[in-house]
Amino acid sequence: MQNINTIAELREIIREQRKRGKTIGFVPTMGALHDGHLSLIEFALQRSDYVVSSIFVNPKQFGPNEDLESYPRQLKIDVEKLESINCDLLFAPSASQMYPDTFETQVRLMTTTQGLCGDYRPGHFDGVTTVVLKLLNLVTPDVVVFGKKDYQQLVVIRRMVEDLGLNIEVIGAPLIRDYDGLALSSRNTYLSKDERNQALSLSRALKTAKQAFLRGETKRSELIRIALGVISHSELRLEYLELRDSKNLAAVEEANQDSLMLVAAHIGTTRLIDNIEFVTG
Ligand code: PAJ
Repeated sequence: MQNINTIAELREIIREQRKRGKTIGFVPTMGALHDGHLSLIEFALQRSDYVVSSIFVNPKQFGPNEDLESYPRQLKIDVEKLESINCDLLFAPSASQMYPDTFETQVRLMTTTQGLCGDYRPGHFDGVTTVVLKLLNLVTPDVVVFGKKDYQQLVVIRRMVEDLGLNIEVIGAPLIRDYDGLALSSRNTYLSKDERNQALSLSRALKTAKQAFLRGETKRSELIRIALGVISHSELRLEYLELRDSKNLAAVEEANQDSLMLVAAHIGTTRLIDNIEFVTG
């Protein structure tokens, strides 16, 4: 795998691959890679000839009281993981490559960024769309893969790609869980053993609500009540637990196969999100 840091090198390599007629797949990340990230790269490898991943802890998407400084950084281990699954190229730019002093542009979506995480992380999605549009313009992929772990982010990116007429296929890849059901996240490394145990109630709650739906319960209020019954730990501070349409995140009163339940909570100082699609099969 080639491992590069500059935009100039990236452009040169992409030009070369294009000259050879290769299609390009792209997986943007912030590193501290786990099997969730690697599954996205596997997806990209299946759907394109040449796969680029990026690692950039994007300062613009962290709020002033969030974990930018402490966010796990482990580039050497990440490189080994990427090599082990035959990723072709890692682009790991510095902040000054991505945001030189003259940088002043912001990309902002008006609707899909509201509600859910948008309400609790003001400016977060502006940072995400700004960096992702820049990365897409640099890599010029045919396909880009995002995980359903960050469901609202996926919906926001799909909207941006369509709104701005980017000629890129956006693939939403399944959420990958640990053996015990906890959604894999780079932030799980922050959790103590006890906190991790408490965190498990989030995925259990979502699963319990989906089971109720599959048994015939469709009322939003009832499904939320059932999920809340599972989230009982005192140190867990719930931000939101919502039932939404999976396509556009619109509020849903009667659940159906297109519905999605999403949750966000703080456990100690760690913020976790999770979700479950109600679709069967
Ligand atoms: P990061 O949190 O590193 O996630 C990178 C990609 O991995 C995202 O598409 C995310 O949804 C996916 N991912 C994370 N955990 C996953 C899991 N358990 N199962 C499946 N996919 C998972 O998301 C970001 O970085 C940033 O916002 C970024 C898009 C890179 C822009 O800075």
